[in-house]
Amino acid sequence: MSETDILLCRPGFESALCAELRESGAMPGTPGLGYVPVEHPAGRDGVFESGRLVKAECIQPDALKPMTAETARQVFSGIVARSKPWTIRAWTPEVVKHEEHARRLKGITANLLRLLAKADPLRAALHREPESGKAEQVLQLALTGQGLWYAVCSAGQVPPAFRMKMDSQAPSRSYLKIEEAFVRMGDYPKAGDRVLDLGAAPGGWTYAFLKRGCRVTAVDHGTLKLPPATAWKQGRVTHLRENGLTYEPQGGRLDWMVSDMLIAPGEALGLLRRWLEGGRAHRIVCNMKIPQREPYAAIRPLLQYLKKHTHRRLLVKQLYHDRREITVMVWGKDER
Ligand SMILES: C[S@@+](CC[C@H](N)C(=O)[O-])C[C@H]1O[C@@H](n2cnc3c(N)ncnc32)[C@H](O)[C@@H]1O
Repeated sequence: MSETDILLCRPGFESALCAELRESGAMPGTPGLGYVPVEHPAGRDGVFESGRLVKAECIQPDALKPMTAETARQVFSGIVARSKPWTIRAWTPEVVKHEEHARRLKGITANLLRLLAKADPLRAALHREPESGKAEQVLQLALTGQGLWYAVCSAGQVPPAFRMKMDSQAPSRSYLKIEEAFVRMGDYPKAGDRVLDLGAAPGGWTYAFLKRGCRVTAVDHGTLKLPPATAWKQGRVTHLRENGLTYEPQGGRLDWMVSDMLIAPGEALGLLRRWLEGGRAHRIVCNMKIPQREPYAAIRPLLQYLKKHTHRRLLVKQLYHDRREITVMVWGKDER
């Protein structure tokens, strides 16, 4: 049995993931595009990890052309031993220029299923589409320069797909980031919630709150390009052209403080300190840009601070919809 896990990340962030793994005491192997192999990694849910194939086995590239029934048997061996409904999750680097790579993996997956249908129609009949939600086990596949990695796990161990659906009325694609943050937190805005949106223009995040009936103060020198008010029912918005780094709202604790201001980790640390230490918002979502060079080193002080000073639920993650940025999410009760 293999002892290698394949950790997936956004392409370009392999070295950040390696640095993060080393910090946790793991010994990452040589990374490839969008993944890092590692033996016995400690912990889960780091900032840069987007998925994981646990105890993954690898089929060498030569054995994929052409794919034989024997190769298919090997890949499905973890599944064919049992009789539960199962599905396939094929991981590909999610960037446009790697579309060809995605097409190849799609072809390999189709071939595998065709070979299985011939060799073992009963097992093939238990295959479910990934969206059906009925599968109990998952065959995870990842195609890398080293070959085709595969691993079987139970459905609950695979993170859901965080690809959000765009709302045609939303003024910007940033909308997808805040929608993904809601899903990851499992916490959604309610009608009447008081929200402060720092760096709000053109208004994707503000719109996500307005359409749920929230009262939003949107701070930005830029212009909001919100759709007509009919698109957001009973929500209300106040636009202030102020500096979000220093803005002080009136009134009591906010339901949400969210920030998407093009700020560096150092500035984000200052902002979070101010908001967390005052206990001034029930929930905080703060997006920040990360530098090209050594992104993990740049966010380490922030992570250290958050771990020490936050007694609330905390998630720091490079979201599926984040690019050269990460998002801090803080919510739940302060248990101090
Ligand atoms: C990535 S955009 C925000 C997109 C927005 N969340 C959306 O969903 O449409 C960043 C915004 O931050 C604003 N910004 C940058 N620094 C700021 C500051 N110190 N105070 C207020 N806004 C700031 C910029 O004007 C810009 O509109």
